[in-house]
Amino acid sequence: MSASPSRVAVFGAGYVGLVTGACLAELGHSVVVRDVLPERIAALRRGEVPIYEPGLADLIARNRERLAFTTDVAEAIDSADYVYVAVGTPPTYSGDADLSAVWMVIDELPAIDGRCVVVMKSTVPVGTGLRVRHRLDERGLEQVGYASNPEFTAEGTAVADFFRPDRIVVGSFRDEDGDAVVALHRGIEGPVVRCDVASAEMIKLAANAALMTRISFINEIANVCEATGADVVRVAEGIGLDRRIGPSFLRAGIGFGGSCFPKDSLALKQLAANSGYHFQLLNAVIEVNELQKRRVIGKLHRHLGPLRGKRVALLGLAFKPHTDDMREAPSLVLAGRLLAEGADVRAWDPVVDGHDLHGVEIANSPEAAADGADAVVVVTEWPQLADVDWAVVGRTMRTPVLIDGRNFLDPELIQAAGFRYEGIGRAADTRGV
Ligand code: UGA
Repeated sequence: MSASPSRVAVFGAGYVGLVTGACLAELGHSVVVRDVLPERIAALRRGEVPIYEPGLADLIARNRERLAFTTDVAEAIDSADYVYVAVGTPPTYSGDADLSAVWMVIDELPAIDGRCVVVMKSTVPVGTGLRVRHRLDERGLEQVGYASNPEFTAEGTAVADFFRPDRIVVGSFRDEDGDAVVALHRGIEGPVVRCDVASAEMIKLAANAALMTRISFINEIANVCEATGADVVRVAEGIGLDRRIGPSFLRAGIGFGGSCFPKDSLALKQLAANSGYHFQLLNAVIEVNELQKRRVIGKLHRHLGPLRGKRVALLGLAFKPHTDDMREAPSLVLAGRLLAEGADVRAWDPVVDGHDLHGVEIANSPEAAADGADAVVVVTEWPQLADVDWAVVGRTMRTPVLIDGRNFLDPELIQAAGFRYEGIGRAADTRGV
């Protein structure tokens, strides 16, 4: 395995491509990130980072000498040892992953004289690597290696996750290609899982499915807690201490969103269905999640009656804190349902500007969003919400009702501040209902 710095081309300047490129540059490699969007590349060249990801802008600035940006394929590929594919694979109408951006990268590769390894970072259906291998061979690029190196970083903590991974998974057809990808990660501590390409592809999909299953599981437990008087926060703590279960991904709330879980659950469901298998558990996980996003509306009805003309403040819009990503954010479903019921919706988020949320008024602070409202809903657990003086906010509201969609705030403090508080899966405060 070579320990010397390598030359890496990264195709795709989205979340995954930028984080991968910047982190590999930090490890000492020379990286060229290529994207088809000229305005994105121009911004990156000016030092502007088009996404909000903690630590990423600093990393890019610090590694300027080893990190270039281009729209030009030849410039990116020039004597590259590795070609990372980090393009989007959004769902098609049928729920299958759209691989057109992946194929574009493979088909754009010029005739490469030397040996390099194409590394798949994009999340793809099982079997994609084999198809790429065939396509490379058909194009006379038999000497080009292929490996699957799936992504496990989470938005908001992606840079830290890259350098402290739970594992690095490398699937390859030939051992030397896998060895090369492992060598590229030298300097990072963490277990390495070596396997065939199909298994690496499945590890990615199965890991996300397992995490989603835990979330839908705890959300259903939360719903039963609500019906029976138990508190899901205590329940999650009590089961999470069992070493066989563990504490992660047991936070009940208003459902999962983001660029990965919703898309990957559909892709895995379709992958199974296309192979003739009905993935019952995954279907239930998806359905539970859809219903979970809407439960807040029922809670608001219970406290406020019909929502027509009522003002509801949504605190947080991003699908989770520390990101500006709105893809499949529960806030979108909530805002849509509230507007459909005739409510006035005002929202605050510290990083999402929300200008494209039609019909939603954007406030510049949680306090401004709540002013005159009939209820506030904690949609995203931004830490800023812990510093709000809720007693003051409650006095500015028409009715001090707080629905905590993330069980983020302390119910006793919020009730002491004069609110009717209701979380997810915890005894509702029914005073005054
Ligand atoms: C997820 C995985 O965690 C990463 O390992 C994976 O690499 C990534 O998808 C991907 O496939 O690219 P991400 O979507 O960035 O990462 O965010 P998560 O922190 O996993 O949260 C996903 C959603 O689940 C959020 O809406 C979050 O609020 C929700 N969630 C998470 C819960 O409702 N409860 C929990 O206990 C945990």
